[in-house]
Amino acid sequence: MAPEPEDELNEKNPRPLDEDDIALLKTYGLGPYSTSIKKTEKEIKEMAKKVNDLCGIKESDTGLAAPSQWDLVSDKQMMQEEQPLQVARCTKIINPNTEDAKYIINVKQIAKFVVGLGDKVSPTDIEEGMRVGVDRNKYQIQIPLPPKIDPSVTMMTVEEKPDVTYNDVGGCKEQIEKMREVVELPMLHPEKFVKLGIDPPKGVLCYGPPGTGKTLLARAVANRTDACFIRVIGSELVQKYVGEGARMVRELFQMARSKKACIVFFDEVDAIGGARFDDGVGGDNEVQRTMLEIVNQLDGFDARGNIKVLMATNRPDTLDPALLRPGRLDRKVEFGLPDLESRTQIFKIHTRTMNCERDVRFELLARLCPNSTGADIRSVCTEAGMYAIRARRKTVTEKDFLDAVNKVIKGYQKFSATPKYMVYN
Ligand SMILES: Nc1ncnc2c1ncn2[C@@H]1O[C@H](COP(=O)(O)OP(=O)(O)O)[C@@H](O)[C@H]1O
Ligand SMILES: [Mg+2]
Repeated sequence: MAPEPEDELNEKNPRPLDEDDIALLKTYGLGPYSTSIKKTEKEIKEMAKKVNDLCGIKESDTGLAAPSQWDLVSDKQMMQEEQPLQVARCTKIINPNTEDAKYIINVKQIAKFVVGLGDKVSPTDIEEGMRVGVDRNKYQIQIPLPPKIDPSVTMMTVEEKPDVTYNDVGGCKEQIEKMREVVELPMLHPEKFVKLGIDPPKGVLCYGPPGTGKTLLARAVANRTDACFIRVIGSELVQKYVGEGARMVRELFQMARSKKACIVFFDEVDAIGGARFDDGVGGDNEVQRTMLEIVNQLDGFDARGNIKVLMATNRPDTLDPALLRPGRLDRKVEFGLPDLESRTQIFKIHTRTMNCERDVRFELLARLCPNSTGADIRSVCTEAGMYAIRARRKTVTEKDFLDAVNKVIKGYQKFSATPKYMVYN
């Protein structure tokens, strides 16, 4: 059978492939989804690169490379070759600012040496009276060290910001305003003070009856600023040995000065800031010395510098006038008893997280606790919660609050320190 003419033509000179055919041929050997898979893979790669870029280098997170790249043996060897440095004090520099400068170091309990600098230290780094690290062979100075600060002083820095904000402080509008003026304004706009030619206040004394929110506001300030916040409780500075307290104060301020901006908060300052008197025996002298060191440090630092001092007490009458004179603690902010509106606000603040009935009349409750402090109101809220728990309810009703007011405000009146405060001041 003769082949059909059309077929013959196909074999001899085949029809050129058109585009559809080419596309079809290209799919030969590919799975149904391979193109989309390839595309997705490419996208994944791009995404991973982007994520890596954003994360930065992974290693620097932990300081460790992937375990496969570890070389423990050589690391160990390196550690053994590298000897620990010894702490010494550079007491004197001979021929400073010249090529052949020499340094006299004093290694405690060994001897004094005249030494040179190691390779990694520049002459500008080393000053007289500095702590330095020296190697154990040639006693060359290898590293400048920061001044030694008592670890108990370092512990006082507040690292985590407290979660209290200005919103959690009910009332106290004026007080907040005054605090912000002293603390925030000089730190954010120092040029305003320079232009006027005045020194911003160095510090604030907060005083008022217990439980009116002095510590609370200080915590809010700490939360607000990015400055380093150091909190000292007055009694912490009362130490066993003579001169210890004063030394701690000195180191505290030394540490504060080494920071870019710093707020030092002395809580319950009456523990150390009592007026000087002579009891004939000299028993309390130590406490007075501590206070005098604070006075001295307050005078010492520059008001435009970035250290602010806050103090809080509920016995302002017992404080030494030297501490309070203008130029030291210029601002005195009184924390009074909250008025009706503030009390309502404080009630609302403390019931924010509580599971209350919808329409509790906080205004009425506030009216029912005259002369009570923020702490009292907080206690009322807690007590109301206790009533609800006792009745096995899940929400707190207004009746609970009323009962709580009855119990707390009437019952605690005997213990309240507020009337005493009123008498003292
Ligand atoms: N103005 C206020 N607004 C909200 N809560 C307050 C207020 N004043 C006091 N409190 C409550 O009372 C508690 C004790 O206050 P605190 O600041 O420690 O008193 P002090 O003035 O004696 O340092 C605070 O934790 C807070 O819950
Ligand atoms: Mg307090």
